[in-house]
Amino acid sequence: MPPRLDPSPEMLVTRGWADYALLDSGEGRKLERYGRFTVVRPEPQCLWSPRDPSAFDAADAVFDPTDEDESGRWRFAGRPIDTFPLAWRDVLFTGRFTPFRHLAFFPEQAANWDWLAGRVRALRSTSPMGDNATKSAPRILNLFGYTGVASLVCAAAGADVTHVDASKKSVAWARENAELSGLADRPIRWIVEDARKYVAREVRRGSRYDGIILDPPKYGRGPTGEVWRLFEDMPALLKDCAALLSDDASFLLLNAYAARISGLSLAYLMAEATASRAGVVNWGELALAEDGPNGRAIGLSFFARWSAT
Ligand SMILES: C[S@@+](CC[C@H](N)C(=O)[O-])C[C@H]1O[C@@H](n2cnc3c(N)ncnc32)[C@H](O)[C@@H]1O
Repeated sequence: MPPRLDPSPEMLVTRGWADYALLDSGEGRKLERYGRFTVVRPEPQCLWSPRDPSAFDAADAVFDPTDEDESGRWRFAGRPIDTFPLAWRDVLFTGRFTPFRHLAFFPEQAANWDWLAGRVRALRSTSPMGDNATKSAPRILNLFGYTGVASLVCAAAGADVTHVDASKKSVAWARENAELSGLADRPIRWIVEDARKYVAREVRRGSRYDGIILDPPKYGRGPTGEVWRLFEDMPALLKDCAALLSDDASFLLLNAYAARISGLSLAYLMAEATASRAGVVNWGELALAEDGPNGRAIGLSFFARWSAT
């Protein structure tokens, strides 16, 4: 029986937490707070007017884009800031002013982190515990894992995690975040590899996972130059991921920031990849909402996720 496809999109809105807030937005920019720093970043989707334009002028850091893609430079009001500590619940990680307009993590993903932590905890409570608790921990695969917050959220909730990313530097940062979070001794495998190659090998080996997360870029490169193009390569990779799901698997979560894709496209792709299973496919957008009542929300990425229940 194929999964049920939710007929309506869902809006997963992150409203900020102690270390993050969307303070204001408008005229193509957003004003955010990361820890104790206020930051201005371009956001073409904010077609409306800011509530307090003067607050943007007082920011600690402003990102000046250099061209059409994501790159550019940071301009600091005072001494340049390189890295600084952040937390989401019990996961600690380092904020970094990267030349790609983000701070080395994506705050709107907090809605997914919350959902993932719940899924892992539910898997743990239903899995039969053997003599060795680690043996029966749910197995989670995080592809295109970047600086690892999703991996650490799953590990903190009790999962055995495999984290895969093409970039040695990103994996090193993710491992640093694991140390910071006090999770260095948890069962996390850190793998620098092309996501498709890793998954293809796992399919050949007959490996199984209880949950899989994918957050692929629109365009990327594997460690030995393998070209990744979301529109061309996603269908085959998702099909392979569906083949890696265990009989009692809980979820397959796909997120994409690519312009021109929609949540509905991801939903049909997900429904096709999981056609041999029951369950449900939910889909929609991840958004960040401004602080306070009547905060406006900015839609930032699309998701589709298959869940067993
Ligand atoms: C959009 S980021 C992922 C964001 C992350 N999941 C998060 O929420 O913080 C994309 C990541 O994909 C990685 N990447 C790009 N091409 C890849 C490939 N062919 N195989 C594996 N990882 C790749 C990049 O190194 C980068 O870390």
